[in-house]
Amino acid sequence: MPIVNRVADLQPEIQAWRRDIHQHPELLYDVHRTAAFVAERLKEFGCDEIVTGIGKTGVVGVIKGRKPANGGLKVIGLRADMDALPIEEETDLPYASKAPGKMHACGHDGHTAMLLGAARYLAETRNFGGTAVVIFQPAEEGGAGAAAMIKDGLMDRFGIEQVYGMHNGPGIPVGQFAIRTGAIMAATDAIDIKIEGVGGHAARPHKCIDSVLVGAQVIAGLQSIVSRTVDPLESAVISICEFHAGNARNVIPQTAELRGTIRTLTEEVRSLVEQRVREVVSGVAQMTGAKIDLVYERGYPVTVNHPAQTDVATRVAREIGGEGAVAETPPMMGAEDFSYMLEARPGAFIFCGNGNSAGLHHPAYNFNDEAIVYGTSYWIKLVENSLAA
Ligand code: NI
Repeated sequence: MPIVNRVADLQPEIQAWRRDIHQHPELLYDVHRTAAFVAERLKEFGCDEIVTGIGKTGVVGVIKGRKPANGGLKVIGLRADMDALPIEEETDLPYASKAPGKMHACGHDGHTAMLLGAARYLAETRNFGGTAVVIFQPAEEGGAGAAAMIKDGLMDRFGIEQVYGMHNGPGIPVGQFAIRTGAIMAATDAIDIKIEGVGGHAARPHKCIDSVLVGAQVIAGLQSIVSRTVDPLESAVISICEFHAGNARNVIPQTAELRGTIRTLTEEVRSLVEQRVREVVSGVAQMTGAKIDLVYERGYPVTVNHPAQTDVATRVAREIGGEGAVAETPPMMGAEDFSYMLEARPGAFIFCGNGNSAGLHHPAYNFNDEAIVYGTSYWIKLVENSLAA
């Protein structure tokens, strides 16, 4: 019987977990209820080991196969994220968020439920040789929960040799997957620029250093980096999304503040852009006489899929969804902290179709329960194939 049919029996239960988690969204590391829910389920399933409190509120379950190890890969890690977003939910779902201002708008409720479903199945059947480690991390949405779990010894403590991640993909038909070798998601860096000019009367600009004009020059300079410095065949995004200055029509403001985000797909381009941002800012300061303070904060690294594991993931996804079920996706300029896990161990990150839902991080978004059988089956098959005795 195809794996999808067997998992279909578990679907109602997995869906119920998903909706329960959806009703109780929690942010960043503050995922205490969700983590407790996960740990309770893993205990019920009879996992060999359950460890909580890794990376503050992360949970890990260990499931040993009943077959002898095949002498190759012994331990595989499967990762889901548990945290929600600070968004007011705008759906009419009967199981909509009960926490004002918080919402599972990225489908991490579905990710957590599907990995629980796989854990349940794997703990029941144990039809593999070696060890499956299910990883439930906090703080994917900006808190680098994956890095916190790694820092707490995740990889070494459980002997994880390879690690896999999955995210739902709105716009990808249910039952289909999307993946690519190499960079699949971008590095994300944050910049904060504080400009101190000389304020004064709007009619006496010669006595001022106009922080608004300085800010405009900084932005124009920054926007020339992608078009004139970065190789046109490479990718980079610089978006300045905040510009705060002034509060009167006839006053040249003393200060201005800019904030933005930078996305790149290789370490080389990332370093090049950082260097140019620093040069542009100090150049504009020199040119205008303003004092400009730049804070350049490196965020999540590039998510880079390893070729061999991408092949494995692709084969598994085809087995689940059929021959035409896997599309090669172009890289996306969004970011993902699974990148830290792929820096630590070889592995691959795949998108699982969520159908025609609203986009991720949208107040009308909802994880598609129809996708549960495919995502859960993917995890199970990945373990059974990779740890085949
Ligand atoms: Ni997400």
